[in-house]
Amino acid sequence: MANIPTVKLNNGVEMPQLGFGVAALGNGKEFHRAMESAVENGYRMFDTAPFYENEAETGDFLRNCGVKREELFVITKLPNACHAYDDTIKAYEAALKNMGLDYIDMFIIHFPVPSVGKYHEAWAAMEKLYEDGRVRAIGVSNFQEKHLNKILETGHIVPQINELECNPYLTVRPLCNFCKEKGIHVVNWFPLGGPRNPLVPYPVDDFKVLIDDPVMIKIGKKYGKSPAQVALRWAVQNDITPIPKSSNPERIRQNTEIFDFTMTAEELAEIDALDHGRRLGPEPDLFDDMTMG
Ligand SMILES: NC(=O)c1ccc[n+]([C@@H]2O[C@H](COP(=O)([O-])OP(=O)(O)OC[C@H]3O[C@@H](n4cnc5c(N)ncnc54)[C@H](OP(=O)(O)O)[C@@H]3O)[C@@H](O)[C@H]2O)c1
Repeated sequence: MANIPTVKLNNGVEMPQLGFGVAALGNGKEFHRAMESAVENGYRMFDTAPFYENEAETGDFLRNCGVKREELFVITKLPNACHAYDDTIKAYEAALKNMGLDYIDMFIIHFPVPSVGKYHEAWAAMEKLYEDGRVRAIGVSNFQEKHLNKILETGHIVPQINELECNPYLTVRPLCNFCKEKGIHVVNWFPLGGPRNPLVPYPVDDFKVLIDDPVMIKIGKKYGKSPAQVALRWAVQNDITPIPKSSNPERIRQNTEIFDFTMTAEELAEIDALDHGRRLGPEPDLFDDMTMG
């Protein structure tokens, strides 16, 4: 079983440096098999959301998995339709109830939804939840620099994390640097570039698969690692916490074995050079699907 290191967030809370993403796992047999495998292989951080339709099952599984609550780190998200202050508080209470937990470790705003323009109101409610000691850490997801600036201006707590689509094909380096400067830890979703992910509407032509990239394969070979492990290690060496999803026990284990090798600065630069701004998820500034969250 892997011993996954932790990172210290800006409020002193320790968070595992690798999490398990539960989107697209459903809530049936595949979900349960994957969760069992994840816990057996040492994952302690789990990233869910009401939108994934397994928030309740994630809570249920974790309550009964035999790992002490204080050793687990649970992330869930504020739905897009709940950015009004009172709705944010209610959404947190609903998440607790849904998951059967007394507290969530990390509650984050799923998307800024700028067209609604209430994310700063949501942030004020998140601050209230945090100051009342009801949640261990608060953060955001899919926030760009202008959205972060707004809550830094109107609020008084610096988010502990920003969960972003980010991988070697979409390094979003200026945003990551901005987060670092402000003390906001970056967690990356689609850390493997989203290969074979049913959530991704692949462009028919010209779709490059990150884990088939010759550079990723070449560097992996040198260390006896797969291209997926290289992508996850690239994140870790950039102070980013990846949250890969897998439904396959072998790949679930493989994705934990990333703390026993270190790539050189030249190799990291070679991987950085693969960046061509290829975004597969929604454009954060435009996304306003109110059923998501
Ligand atoms: N905050 C947000 O807005 C947001 C948005 C999207 C996702 N997320 C979070 O990020 C998590 C990760 O995103 P994701 O799962 O879509 O993308 P991903 O981790 O980049 O890719 C997952 C895909 O890679 C495959 N895979 C996993 N490990 C592999 C390995 N070692 N070698 C080859 N293929 C491998 C999986 O297939 P198998 O299952 O067959 O292994 C799955 O299809 C989600 O589960 C969710 O928790 C957050």
